[in-house]
Amino acid sequence: MARKKITVVGAGHVGATTALWVARKELGDVVLVDIVEGVPQGKALDMMEAAPVEGFDSTITGTNDYKDTAGSDVVIITAGLPRKPGMDRADLIKTNSGIIKSVVKEIVKYSPNTILLIVTNPLDVMVYAAWKHSGLPPERVMGLSGALDGARMRAFIAMELGVSVKDVRTMVIGGHADTMVPLPDFSTVSGVPITQLLSKSKIKAIAHRTKHAGAEIVAFLKTGSAYYAPSRAVSEMAESIIRDQKRVIPSAVYADGIYGVKNMFIGLPAVLGSNGVEDIIKLKLSADEKKEFKASVKAIKVLLGHLDI
Ligand code: LAC
Repeated sequence: MARKKITVVGAGHVGATTALWVARKELGDVVLVDIVEGVPQGKALDMMEAAPVEGFDSTITGTNDYKDTAGSDVVIITAGLPRKPGMDRADLIKTNSGIIKSVVKEIVKYSPNTILLIVTNPLDVMVYAAWKHSGLPPERVMGLSGALDGARMRAFIAMELGVSVKDVRTMVIGGHADTMVPLPDFSTVSGVPITQLLSKSKIKAIAHRTKHAGAEIVAFLKTGSAYYAPSRAVSEMAESIIRDQKRVIPSAVYADGIYGVKNMFIGLPAVLGSNGVEDIIKLKLSADEKKEFKASVKAIKVLLGHLDI
């Protein structure tokens, strides 16, 4: 069987680290593309020289030419400006939607049937822009949200309880923004709801930290945003698609009436397989959770209003 092909657009911290995770997992051969000359080539060659030590056979090719991305099964788009301290994800709309447009046009020219995974912020709006510019069916376009936010929440719960991160599962829906909705009722430690293991105030603190986890990293780094967890989380989505695992991963997916939301991409529990988003799971939310989710929908709508398509 021919190897799969995964393109990563953007050879910055998120893109390069994603390329490495994807190659280490041998999901397929990786093409790392960036507009800056030399950077994708240099980083790709560096990773190829790590391959013998780590023992992976995936190849990584760095390029400035979208021709080299032809026939990609999955394309992960990380290109765009990251948030600076004090900068909201919304501030990035204008610049990054322009970048998304030009990237997506190039990508679909060479890979007309690909599946797009968007990492660029403000996330939910950029996924919408990518979908519009790609002409792809909505199930073939999605964005990184709950995979990352849920991983952060898992880390915080494990830290609090002193248990293995492996046993902690979480669910975070809504926009990949401060209005995201962490769902403690759907978060467990080996099947035990965290509501039975942690006090209300501890849970509230964990939910709050999860919502602001991206900003917490930005405040430390000062000149950029997080990349280890984002790159690992998006490679988990890519793996589920490439290997047709049908994992249930909350992702920014197209809502067409489900959860009372229409014509918008927003974080929902999605089944990811070789056809992209194969199903969306309907959760029974409490009145409070519904209210929070609605606020998240509203916030995305406002941002979509700034989008020039
Ligand atoms: C974050 C950025 C990547 O949440 O959105 O860290």
